[in-house]
Amino acid sequence: MARDLQQLQKQYNTSAADARGMFGGGRGPAARASGTPKNTARTVARMLSYLKPYRGRLILTVVCMLMTTVTALFASYMLAPIIDRLSMYLHPEKELDISAIETFLIDRINGLIGPEAPVATFITTAALILAGIYLLEIFFAYMQSRLMVSVSQNVIESIRNDLFEKMARLPVRFFDSRPTGEIMSRFSNDVDNINVMISNSLTSIISGTVTLIGTLVFMITTSWILTLITVVFIPIFTWGGMMIAGLSRKYYKSQQAALGAVNGYIEEMVTGQKVVKVFNHEDECVEEFGVLNDDLRGKQFYASFWGGVMGPIMGNTSQISFAVTVGIGGVLMIAGAITAGGLSVFARYSRQFSMPINQISQQMTALFSALAGAERVFEVMDTAPETDPVPEGGQPAHGPAAGEISGYVIMKDVSFGYVPEKTVLKHIDLYAKPGQKIAFVGSTGAGKTTITNLLNRFYDIEEGSITVDGTEIREIPRDVLRRNIAMVLQDTHLFTGTVMENIRYGRLDATDEEVIQAAKTASAHSFIMRLSDGYQTMLEGDGGNLSQGQRQLLNIARAAISKAPILVLDEATSSVDTRTERHIDHGLARLMADRTTFVIAHRLSTVRNANAIMVLEQGQIIERGTHDDLLAMKGRYYELYTGLRELD
Ligand SMILES: Nc1ncnc2c1ncn2[C@@H]1O[C@H](COP(=O)(O)OP(=O)(O)OP(=O)(O)O)[C@@H](O)[C@H]1O
Ligand SMILES: [Mg+2]
Repeated sequence: MARDLQQLQKQYNTSAADARGMFGGGRGPAARASGTPKNTARTVARMLSYLKPYRGRLILTVVCMLMTTVTALFASYMLAPIIDRLSMYLHPEKELDISAIETFLIDRINGLIGPEAPVATFITTAALILAGIYLLEIFFAYMQSRLMVSVSQNVIESIRNDLFEKMARLPVRFFDSRPTGEIMSRFSNDVDNINVMISNSLTSIISGTVTLIGTLVFMITTSWILTLITVVFIPIFTWGGMMIAGLSRKYYKSQQAALGAVNGYIEEMVTGQKVVKVFNHEDECVEEFGVLNDDLRGKQFYASFWGGVMGPIMGNTSQISFAVTVGIGGVLMIAGAITAGGLSVFARYSRQFSMPINQISQQMTALFSALAGAERVFEVMDTAPETDPVPEGGQPAHGPAAGEISGYVIMKDVSFGYVPEKTVLKHIDLYAKPGQKIAFVGSTGAGKTTITNLLNRFYDIEEGSITVDGTEIREIPRDVLRRNIAMVLQDTHLFTGTVMENIRYGRLDATDEEVIQAAKTASAHSFIMRLSDGYQTMLEGDGGNLSQGQRQLLNIARAAISKAPILVLDEATSSVDTRTERHIDHGLARLMADRTTFVIAHRLSTVRNANAIMVLEQGQIIERGTHDDLLAMKGRYYELYTGLRELD
C-alpha cells in the first residue's frame, strides 16, 4: 500500500527546507533551513576576520563603488544642461531658475569652450563629456567587480580550507551522529551562500544605499517640491509590493518544502534502486512519487505565479507615480519653479528611486540567510577536535607514547556506550601479548567492532582502562597509536586512485616491491594481475568495478604493508571464499607471528587457531578460551560452532 501525501512529506522532507530567501535555491534534503543567524553580531565579526587580510582591496572596492554611483548620478544629470541650453537658445527671453548642480555643470562646460561659444559646440561638448562619464563608470564598475570577486574567492578558499582541515580532525563521533548530506551541505550550500553574500549582496547593499542617498540629494537640489511628492508616494507602492512579496514568500516556502520531499524521494530511490527492483516496488514508487510531484506542481504554480506577477505589478505602480510626478512637474515648469532640463532629469531619478529600495530589501534576505550559513560553517569549525593531553614536560622521547610499542594490550573493566542511555560494552577484561591472536565472536550487534573502535581511540572510554605496553592509550598521542595499529575496518573503503596507491595508503614510504609483497600476502596479487592495467588500474567510486571480496583483499593488503605491531581484522574475509581465506591465513601467519592480532569473524573456521577466543554477547564476554576449551565447555561457542543455535 502506498503511503499518503502527509506521511511521505514528513518522511522525505527531513530538511524542513525553509525558505532560503526569495531568491535562494533549494537543493532537496541536503539543503538545510537557512533562516536567520542565532547570533548575528558574532557571525559578522567572524566574517570580518576573514575579510581583514583584504582590507586594502576592500577599501579600493568601496571607492570604486562610490565612484560608479557618483558617475552614474552625474551621467543622468548631464541631460539637464543640454536641454536647458537648448531652451535658452530657443527662448532667450525666458529667465530660467537653474539648480545648483546644473549651474556647476554649465560653468564647467563653459570653462572649457568659453561662455560665448555657439550652442552646437556646447551640446557636442556636453555629449562628449557624457560619453566620457559613461566610460569612467564602466571603468569603475569593472574595477569594482574584479576586486570584489578576487576578495570573495580568496575568502571562500580560506573558509573551505579551514573547514576541510577542521573536518579532517573531527572525531569519528561527529560523522557517526550526522547524516552525510548534512555535512556535505556545509561545503556546498552554505559556502556558496557566503560567496554570493560577499561578491553580490554586500556590494549591492552598499551601492544601493549610496545610490539611494545620492539620488535623493540630486532630486532635492533639482526640486524639493517634486521630491516631497515622490517620497509621499513611495510608501504606498512599497506597501503594495510588500503584500505581494509576502504572499509569494509564503508560497515559496511551501514550494521549498514540497521540493525537498520530491528530491529526498528521488535521492532515496536512486541510491536504493537495486533494493527497489529486488522487491518489485517499482509501481508503488512511481505512485508515491506521483503524489509528491502533484503536490509540488500545485505549490509551484502559486509560488511562480505570485513571484512572476510581483515584478510587473511593482514596475507598473511605480509608473503611476512617474505619471503623477510628470503631471505636477509640468505645472511647476509653467510656474517657472523647474526647468525643462530639471524636470527631465528629475523624472529619470524618480523612476530609479525605488530600484535601490527593492534591491536592498532583496539582498538583506540573501544576506541573512548567508549569515545563517556562515554560522553553521563556523559551528563545524568550533566543534572540539580530537585532542591529545600534553603531559607535563612534553611527550616522552621513549616508551609507548613515543611509538616504541611491542603490542601488549590490556583492557580492564571497560564499559562504554555511544550514547549515555545505552551501555554497549560491559566490564570487558582481556589481555593480549605480542604474537598472540585474539578472536572475537558473537552475534551481530554484540559489540565486537566497538571494542576495536576503543582500541584505536575512535571513541574514548570513560570507564575502565586500556593500556598498550603498560601505558594508558589516552596518554599515547592518537597519531602514534594509530600508526601502531593496522586495521582492516568492517566497512571497506577505497580511494580514487590506482591499486598501487590504494595499497600504499597503509604506509606511504613503501616501495613498489613492498606493495606487491603485501598484495601477495593478502592473496590479492593474482586478481590484480588480471585487471586491465595491473597495479596501475584506476579505482573509482570506492572500487565499484571490483567485487566485494576483491575490495576486502585490497584492504587487507593495505594493512599488511604496515609495520604496526598490532593488527585488527574486522570481518576482513567475510566476503572471500573459504579457499582464498585459507590462503590469506597462510600469508598473514608470518606477519602475525610477532604482532598482536585481533580477529573478528563470523566464520568460526577463521578463528579456530586463535590463542584465545572471546565470545561476546550483548556487550559482555560470556565465554573465553581456546577453540578446544570452548567446545568442551558446550556453551554458546559450542552452539555457534555446531550450528545448534540456529536450530532453536
Ligand atoms: N556509531 C554508533 N552510535 C551509536 N550506537 C552504535 C554505533 N555503532 C554501533 N552502535 C551500537 O552498538 C552496538 C554494538 O555494535 P558493534 O558494531 O560493536 O557490533 P558488532 O558486534 O561489531 O556487530 P556486527 O557483527 O554486526 O559487526 C549495537 O547495538 C549498535 O546499535
Ligand atoms: Mg562489527
